[in-house]
Parts: sequence; C-alpha cells; structure tokens
Amino acid sequence: MIVAPSVLSADKSRFRDEVIKVKEAGAEFIHLDVMDGCFVPNVTSLIGYLPSIEDVDIFKDTHIMVEDIRGYAALYAPHSSLITFHLEASDDVKGDIEYIRGLGCKVGISIKPATPVESLEPYLGDLDLILVMSVEPGKGGQTYLEEATGKIAYLKKKKDERGYNWLIEVDGGINGTTARRAAAAGAEVLVAGSYLYGHEDYRERIEALRRL
Ligand code: DX5
Ligand code: ZN
Repeated sequence: MIVAPSVLSADKSRFRDEVIKVKEAGAEFIHLDVMDGCFVPNVTSLIGYLPSIEDVDIFKDTHIMVEDIRGYAALYAPHSSLITFHLEASDDVKGDIEYIRGLGCKVGISIKPATPVESLEPYLGDLDLILVMSVEPGKGGQTYLEEATGKIAYLKKKKDERGYNWLIEVDGGINGTTARRAAAAGAEVLVAGSYLYGHEDYRERIEALRRL
C-alpha cells in the first residue's frame, strides 16, 4: 500500500521538515491539496511552500479542487509529479488530460461522493490515477462515506478485467478501520491527513497503513 500524507493537516511553518519526516517514516507520496474558494468553499495555496521541497525525492501528488483546471495545473505543474483534477469541474475532460500531460505531469481524475463512478468510463484508457473522494472535498477531519468502498471495488474490477495501469486512490476520513475497508476493496493509495498529523505515533500509523 502507498501512503500519501495530506499536508492540509500539517504545520505549514515547518513544511519542508514535515515532508521529510513523513518520507522518512515510509510515505512514498505527498498529497498536496489545493482549493480555490469556488469549486470548494475554502482556499488553500501551497505555491509558496513547494520550492522548499524541490529537492525532496517524494512523489508529489497534487489534488486541485478548482474550477480553473488549466490555470492551476500550469501553476502547480513545475512542482508536481501528478495532477488530479475533478471530473465535476471540467467542460472538456479529454482536453484537460492532454493539457496536463503537455505540462509534463501524470494525470488523475477525482470524483466527489455524489458522482457515479460510471461517469469515468470514457476516460479509463487515459489516466494514471483515479481518486475516489470518500468525503465532500473541502476540508480535513471528516467521516469516511461508505459509498466510496463500492466505487473502489468497481474500479478494481474494471482494472483487473481490462488491464489498466492507473492507481486507485482514496481520500478523506482514512483511519485504521476505514483504511482496511478501502484496502480490501482494492485501494492502492491511501491519503491520510488528520489520522497522521499531530499524533506522536504518526510513524507507527504510516507503517500500519503501508502493511495493508
Ligand atoms: C479534503 C482533502 C483531503 C483531506 C483529507 O478535501 O482532499 O486530502 O486533507 O483529510 P483527512 O484524512 O483528515 O480526512
Ligand atoms: Zn485531497
């Protein structure tokens, strides 16, 4: 299992140290949440912090919860390994996928809890990652919504049947219990924010999630 700590819950004044800390604890991805105040009510910008981790060898998994997909993608691409945008925000999904690839990044699409997983069908051949939101995007610390588990199982089945290479990632409300359910359904990347940050035993928690 790949663990992707979400820096939303981290102490931004120690951004670089926090990223190094989770990397040393076994996290292969760092999950970078970006919000525009339109697609979701909150605003979070990480652009000022990212140059400080330029040299940190960790997969930079950027999740843009924004309306202006191409504008934010262009801004974050130099600091990202992969950019995930929201299906609900896109008027031209194939065009947005190509645009992000043109910026030199891998591409993911995310769906909100109310969006049917079948809506991803036309794009399944074009992606590197699919992010199933298990909470309403917008803030950390919410409760895992069980419908995500069924979506993960659906995607796992499609992946096995057709041999796709994308990773199945789940984001929101991940803890020791919900992580097991998501992992059993087929999740390959677990985003975890409040479960890790601010806990003395975050290293143990990362290790426990990785073993799933
Ligand atoms: C929510 C963000 C998540 C969030 C997860 O909109 O996309 O990445 O930080 O936080 P927890 O793990 O606390 O639900
Ligand atoms: Zn996220």
